Amino acid sequence: MNVQTLILGAGAAGMMAAAHAGADVLVIDHAKAPGEKIRISGGGRCNFTNMYCEPSRFLGGNPHFHKSALKRYTQWDFVDLIAKHGIAYHEKTLGQLFCDDSARQIVDMLRTEMERAGARLWLETALVDLSHDGSRFRATLDRNGQRTEVRAKNLIVATGGKSIPKMGATGLAYDIAQQFGHSVTETRPGLVPFTFPDGRFKPLAGVACPVRATSNGTSFDEALLFTHRGLSGPSVLQVSSYWREGQTVSFDLLPGTDLEAHLRGLRTQQGKRSLTTELANLLPARLVEHLAPQIDFNGNLGDLSDKRIAALAEALRDWQVLPQGTEGYRTAEVTLGGVATDAVSSKTMMSAHQPGLYFIGEALDVTGWLGGYNFQWAWSSAVAAGRAI
Ligand code: FDA
Repeated sequence: MNVQTLILGAGAAGMMAAAHAGADVLVIDHAKAPGEKIRISGGGRCNFTNMYCEPSRFLGGNPHFHKSALKRYTQWDFVDLIAKHGIAYHEKTLGQLFCDDSARQIVDMLRTEMERAGARLWLETALVDLSHDGSRFRATLDRNGQRTEVRAKNLIVATGGKSIPKMGATGLAYDIAQQFGHSVTETRPGLVPFTFPDGRFKPLAGVACPVRATSNGTSFDEALLFTHRGLSGPSVLQVSSYWREGQTVSFDLLPGTDLEAHLRGLRTQQGKRSLTTELANLLPARLVEHLAPQIDFNGNLGDLSDKRIAALAEALRDWQVLPQGTEGYRTAEVTLGGVATDAVSSKTMMSAHQPGLYFIGEALDVTGWLGGYNFQWAWSSAVAAGRAI
């Protein structure tokens, strides 16, 4: 059969592209349902965009590549779409917009938009073979054990990255990119917890506190969460995208508190109070207990010299931790790296090697921070490709 546009992947980007790619679109996905990551995202409420979306909140080989698409389909365009569909939403924190009710509303909205555009959706369909005959793509599809050959003028690759293979993530986009002469940058799990197989943080599991986490010169002021397996929470997920194996991560455990001034003030007023009692007012008591063997917390406030106060403040301002690894693609929210953007048009997402071939969404070497940025990239890159067709 002939179609104008074949879209591989009915996730966030694929569905959005189908709604914008004009007539005669077929979307295929090997999953049983479309938009599965949308459905489970944001704790079931989908953090669908961020009010403060801007290019500096994305990582990738080319820090300029994503600017054009994000500018031409912004977070406010997506908010308008949500409002048009009557979906109630709220800002949770840091500009992160979530559905009031359920992430399923976003999936339903995209299905409605796709249907309105006349796009067909084939689920439980796998790509068996792909080639280009000089004028059209030829895709052999396996749908419920039945083979179909589809010829398409345009092919949009929206199969995402490698994160959460259990949910159907594959490296198909990278294989197709390489088949058509594109390079693929190193891929690694992003927005992922740190692991410590020695179990050192087990006694702290469940403890959380606000911190400033820093890795490779980039800092995030968000919560730190101790788990049975290591460190998590938004601050850790954020810095994990900047971290590399063998590097330490620094935590300011009292961001925004001038501990030196605080302790000096208390030294005269509350000299008999123990240092650990005071620190337990500022930090979770179990964390103070955990840090005690590493940092000298002995004695009362009245006994502290200026030098010791300065050393204490420094130790809590720059608590260095060496992660032994991450949870990997099993739980990573995104894949860093991907289809190199050097041979992809930043305006249309079209390949410079093969006219009619487009890459969108997480498959590309563009990764957002935690907080709705990755969905915004899916929407913006999808609209760029869809409008170009
Ligand atoms: P996506 O992964 O959504 O879709 C790819 C589609 O291709 C899938 O339907 C898959 O089945 C299909 N596919 C893959 N290989 C195939 C093959 N070989 N054959 C056929 N089909 C194939 N982001 C955000 O901004 N806010 C948030 O709240 C969250 N929350 C979140 C939670 C969790 C648990 C995860 C794992 C991720 C998030 N994210 C997020 C990230 C966000 O989900 C992600 O960046 C987007 O879904 C990427 O959209 P894509 O359409 O590019 O890929």
